[in-house]
Amino acid sequence: MSFSKKRIPKIIQELYNKYKDHDEGTLPTYIPELSRVDPKHFSIAVVTLDGDVFTAGEDAQTFTIQSMVKPFLYGITLEKLGPEAVLEKVGVEPTGDAFNTIKLLPKSNRPYNPMVNAGAIAISNLIPGNDYHDRIVIVKEALEQMAASPLGFDISVYTSEKTMGHHNRAMAYLMLKFGILTGNPEEILESYFQACSFLVTVKDLAVMAATLANKGTNPISQTQIIQPKNVKDIICVMMTCGMYDFAGEWAYTVGIPAKSGVSGGIFGVVPGRMGIAVYSPPLDESGTSIRGIKVFQEMAQMMDLSIF
Ligand code: DON
Repeated sequence: MSFSKKRIPKIIQELYNKYKDHDEGTLPTYIPELSRVDPKHFSIAVVTLDGDVFTAGEDAQTFTIQSMVKPFLYGITLEKLGPEAVLEKVGVEPTGDAFNTIKLLPKSNRPYNPMVNAGAIAISNLIPGNDYHDRIVIVKEALEQMAASPLGFDISVYTSEKTMGHHNRAMAYLMLKFGILTGNPEEILESYFQACSFLVTVKDLAVMAATLANKGTNPISQTQIIQPKNVKDIICVMMTCGMYDFAGEWAYTVGIPAKSGVSGGIFGVVPGRMGIAVYSPPLDESGTSIRGIKVFQEMAQMMDLSIF
């Protein structure tokens, strides 16, 4: 690696200073509780494969993981069922559409990929367990292993999303009609809504990202959590689908597998090098953190991060 990690603290502090007063973007209103957060929150974290942690800004601020949980839900099913069984229910094609698109693949009626809401709901159906309680225990344990840290849960955001989540409900019932969902849709949605409401910090996310960058071994706990072949599948789908209708421009301007969430987080995986996370709640029209995009784009240039 020609890039010296000694430069990381200075780079992330510079980017933090540059963008800390930037106030473009809006908070999501479709989950009312998310529109009540302080838009000024801003933090950046980088975790190297040696387990070094660098942060800038309010790194202790927690926020809900939202769609950034989707790569890990996918990972759980790859580990527990194997890729063939998962592919039977969820494709690996980008949609070119927003995260909540109500669109299924022609003929098979599968969701396009595990990163859009429909795909993650179908994936939630595949996580073994008799009910949402069994499934959420598995999810919590997996996320905490990835983060090497206990994680909290935001009951207000969860209740807010569950109350207002009729778009996801519509999607779930459509998938029930096509036999993609095989259980009670309300139970499956419960697992999905709960999975989106775990609380993380940028450091937690950067450790999770670094675990993917390190072929599934957590650089903090040194525990192998996901098999390397499954990590390959996860980061491949993150690269093509993780940023939804912004995936092409993201590949072009940043060039690393990444996942965004409507809480305002983005995490990125630089294979063999590091995990990165940014948190800043104001979003652009595609539901992606505006300062998050800017920081990733500049870091990619400054540290030569693109995999291409
Ligand atoms: O299902 C939803 O709409 C939210 N729980 C997650 C959406 C999300 O984070 C989209 N990503 N940018």
